[in-house]
Amino acid sequence: MAYNLLKGKKGIIFGALDSKSIAWKVAEQAYEEGAVFTLSNTPTALRFGQIDELAAKTGSVVIPADATNVKDLQNVLEQSMEVLGGKVDFVLHSIGMSLNVRKKRVYNDLDYNYLNKTLDISAISFHKVLQLAYNMDAINEWGSVVALSYIAAQRTLYGYNDMADAKSLLESIARSFGYIYGRERKIRVNTISQSPTRTTAGQGVKGIDGLLDFTNRMSPLGNADARECADYCITLFSDLTRKVTMQNLFHDGGFSNMGMSLKAMDMYNKSLEGTDTEDIPQ
Ligand SMILES: NC(=O)c1ccc[n+]([C@@H]2O[C@H](COP(=O)([O-])OP(=O)(O)OC[C@H]3O[C@@H](n4cnc5c(N)ncnc54)[C@H](O)[C@@H]3O)[C@@H](O)[C@H]2O)c1
Repeated sequence: MAYNLLKGKKGIIFGALDSKSIAWKVAEQAYEEGAVFTLSNTPTALRFGQIDELAAKTGSVVIPADATNVKDLQNVLEQSMEVLGGKVDFVLHSIGMSLNVRKKRVYNDLDYNYLNKTLDISAISFHKVLQLAYNMDAINEWGSVVALSYIAAQRTLYGYNDMADAKSLLESIARSFGYIYGRERKIRVNTISQSPTRTTAGQGVKGIDGLLDFTNRMSPLGNADARECADYCITLFSDLTRKVTMQNLFHDGGFSNMGMSLKAMDMYNKSLEGTDTEDIPQ
C-alpha cells in the first residue's frame, strides 16, 4: 500500500544490482511513494546486472559511477540535478564490497591493498558522496541521506572479516558528517543496520545460511527482509522523521538487543544431546 510519503521528492539511489538488492527494493518503493530519482552503479554492474529493467519500470535515468572515484560521483550529482530539475531530497548509499572476502583472505591474513579497497568502496565512498553534495549544495533543506550498515560494526560476528571495520567507519562518517549537515543545512544523515539478507552481497558472507537461521531464531520479530528494509528507508526519506539524525538505526527484528532466545536455545540444546557438558562451571 502506498501513502504518497515521497510525493514531489527527488533522489539518488546507489547500489541496485538485481531484483534481490536492497537498493532495488528501495527504488520500487520510492517510485510507489511518488518520488523521482536517478540510479547509479558501476559500469560492470550495469553490464551484468538488471538495472535497465528497474530504470524502465521507475522512469529513472541510470548514471554509471565507481563510488571510489570522485569525478564519477561529481558527475552523478551534476547529472541528477540536471535530469531531476534541481537539488535532491534524498540519497541512498547501498554499496559494499570486500576483495578480502571475495578472495577468501581471513581477518588475520588480510591483503592490505584489498583492505584499502574495502574501506574505500564500502565506507569512504559515503564520505565522498557527502562531501561532494555538501560542496555542490546538492541536497535540499530537510533532505535525508541513508547508508546501509550491519551489526558487525559493534559486535564480532564470525566471518564478516574486514567489512566489520568498513561498517564501523561508515557509521562514524554518518555521525561526523551528520553533525555538520544538521548544523549547517538541516539535513539528516543516518545508517540503517539491517538483518542479514539474501542478496548478492549477503551471499558473500561466510556461512550465510546458518547465520540467517540463527538471527531469525534470535530475533523476536524474525529477520527483516529487503522489502521491509526498503519500507524503513522510505520513512527516513519522508517528512515524518525530520529530527532523526546521526543515528545508527537497527532494523533487525530485535536481534541487536537479544542475548539468547527460546528458539535459539532449543536448537542449541538439540546440538548438545549426547555431548559431555560436565566441565562447564555451574
Ligand atoms: N545483504 C545483507 O545481509 C546486508 C546486511 C546489512 C547491510 N547490508 C548492506 O547493504 C548494502 C547493499 O547490499 P545488498 O545486500 O543489497 O547487496 P547487493 O550486492 O545487491 O548490493 C551491493 C552493491 O554495491 C555495488 N558496488 C560494489 N562496488 C561498488 C563501487 N566501487 N562503486 C559503486 N557501487 C559498488 C554493487 O554493484 C551492488 O549494486 C551494502 O552496503 C551491504 O553491506 C547488507
